[in-house]
Amino acid sequence: MSTPTAEAPPPTVGVDPPLRLSSISKRFGGVRALSDVSLEVAPGSIQGLIGPNGAGKTTLFDVISGITPASEGTVHFGGRNVTKSSATGRARLGMRRTFQRAQVFSWLSVEDNVLAALEWHGGGGGVLADLVTWPSRRALEKTRRERAHEILEWCGLTGLRHTAAGSLPLGQQRLVELARAIVDKPTLLLLDEPTSGLDHGEADKFGELVLSLRGEGCAVVLVEHDAGFVMRLCDRIAVLNLGSVLAEGTPEEIQANQAVRDAYLG
Ligand SMILES: Nc1ncnc2c1ncn2[C@@H]1O[C@H](COP(=O)(O)OP(=O)(O)O)[C@@H](O)[C@H]1O
Ligand SMILES: [Mg+2]
Repeated sequence: MSTPTAEAPPPTVGVDPPLRLSSISKRFGGVRALSDVSLEVAPGSIQGLIGPNGAGKTTLFDVISGITPASEGTVHFGGRNVTKSSATGRARLGMRRTFQRAQVFSWLSVEDNVLAALEWHGGGGGVLADLVTWPSRRALEKTRRERAHEILEWCGLTGLRHTAAGSLPLGQQRLVELARAIVDKPTLLLLDEPTSGLDHGEADKFGELVLSLRGEGCAVVLVEHDAGFVMRLCDRIAVLNLGSVLAEGTPEEIQANQAVRDAYLG
């Protein structure tokens, strides 16, 4: 039996990449949507994922977030093999995503949208828990409301907090979706075409929020059509084409890559 010594290596906590995909394939009947995709996302980095329509970007997000199972391959999240975990299980470990079509509770106010996200993550507890621990629940609700206000302020939504989310223009709905996704400090955020339908000013503002998220240590994977936006924001970019990784590298490397130019950038 070994005894711990002063020379023992330090614990490896925190060195695992937030996301590691190994040889992911996905088939829908005869359609091979993803073939042998391997990708690693560094902690606190912004990873772009680009490629033509039908390349498999959204399918890859579905596989990462657990909405659809991979046909082959493994997904590691924060060092854990989550390949067989449910979408809820992965979310509880700190993974969040937004959707190509913004998803908010349209009939709830902006503030209640964010509170609902916090409530869900904290675990509702049910009626019995309400009765038994009422004073501490009140304290918890106060904390949640403070956190919701903080995040609404951060997203520039304070003035709209009492407005029904569904009545907002798309740009602001995307901010509500972002606020919901980040309110409980995820370690990995997947954004599927977050700026589609936004004007330049709105997209720039969204980009600034994504950059400051990275500053807080959250890793971001960004699917995006706007090549300029991707090049400006991302630390690294992977190009998917026909379900395979055509290239992976820094924005400069991707821009200079002839195969990428031929298949995508034109
Ligand atoms: N649920 C599904 N059933 C069958 N085919 C699908 C399904 N989802 C995606 N596909 C197919 O997988 C391929 C990749 O689609 P998708 O991931 O949406 O591409 P992207 O997001 O890059 O535009 C397409 O050929 C698409 O038709
Ligand atoms: Mg898509």
